Amino acid sequence: MSARITAGLFMSHVPAIGAAVDKGLTEEPYWQPLFEGLKTSRQWIADNPTDVVILVYNDHGNAFSMEMIPTFALGMAASYQPTDEGWGPRPVPIVEGHPELSAHLAQSVIPAGFDLTLVNEMTVDHGLTVPLSMMYDQPAAWPTKVVPLAINVIQHPAPTGRRCLELGKAIRAAVETFDDDLNVQIWGTGGMSHQLQGARAGLINPEWDHAFLERMINDPEGMADVPNVDYLREAGSEGVELVMWLTARGALADLNGGPAPTEAHRLYHVPASNTAVGHLILENA
Ligand code: DHB
Ligand code: FE
Repeated sequence: MSARITAGLFMSHVPAIGAAVDKGLTEEPYWQPLFEGLKTSRQWIADNPTDVVILVYNDHGNAFSMEMIPTFALGMAASYQPTDEGWGPRPVPIVEGHPELSAHLAQSVIPAGFDLTLVNEMTVDHGLTVPLSMMYDQPAAWPTKVVPLAINVIQHPAPTGRRCLELGKAIRAAVETFDDDLNVQIWGTGGMSHQLQGARAGLINPEWDHAFLERMINDPEGMADVPNVDYLREAGSEGVELVMWLTARGALADLNGGPAPTEAHRLYHVPASNTAVGHLILENA
């Protein structure tokens, strides 16, 4: 039996959420409502364990630097050490990779026309570890292996939503030809609306965020044609992180000739640091 993608998960990656978990602040009044909403997510992932997560995220100048920023970077390693700016490296487990699946993804996705950068050694920052903490809290070891896929949304031009969605389709085809009985989830992370700098710092646009969540479910092809400048204008300079959700969405069955996904959970919470937190679980077995 070959590997299969069974669900798409989507979530923000605010560093302060990671710090709240690490410092035991999740019951504080500021954080309690968010973590109350994540109880459903944590129960869901306990009921729906996965062998590997293909985790689509962005690096924030930690693994890469301003000297070199790959547009699409695939982690090929057996493990990835946490790193971070701000609060520093998080006290979270090492992230175990799946080099065989990484190699297969490269062998399938690059000939399909997506010129990935292959990264044999890299660290992973809050973009990848905060989503893991949101879903798994504080385990001694992460309950899943992870294949990191880092997308540049730091230095413009970021790839288009269309390109991200089409990459997701190529990833689905690749997973389905991997000759191992693996349950694979794909997670699209980053966003929602936020702007960390400049005159509009602190911008949150709930109407746009809610519409995006809705279109992620019902109109991903239409959403893929929204230009990045619309994200920048409507969801703030860092809101463009949301294009990464489209890679995970493109890997679900309905965009590849199969049935529509089922919405298992939806969460929207403001505030978390400077960012609106959005979260979706779309089942796709
Ligand atoms: C915040 C959000 C981000 O996406 C990020 O990478 C860093 C900080 C914030 O809201 O504070
Ligand atoms: Fe970010």
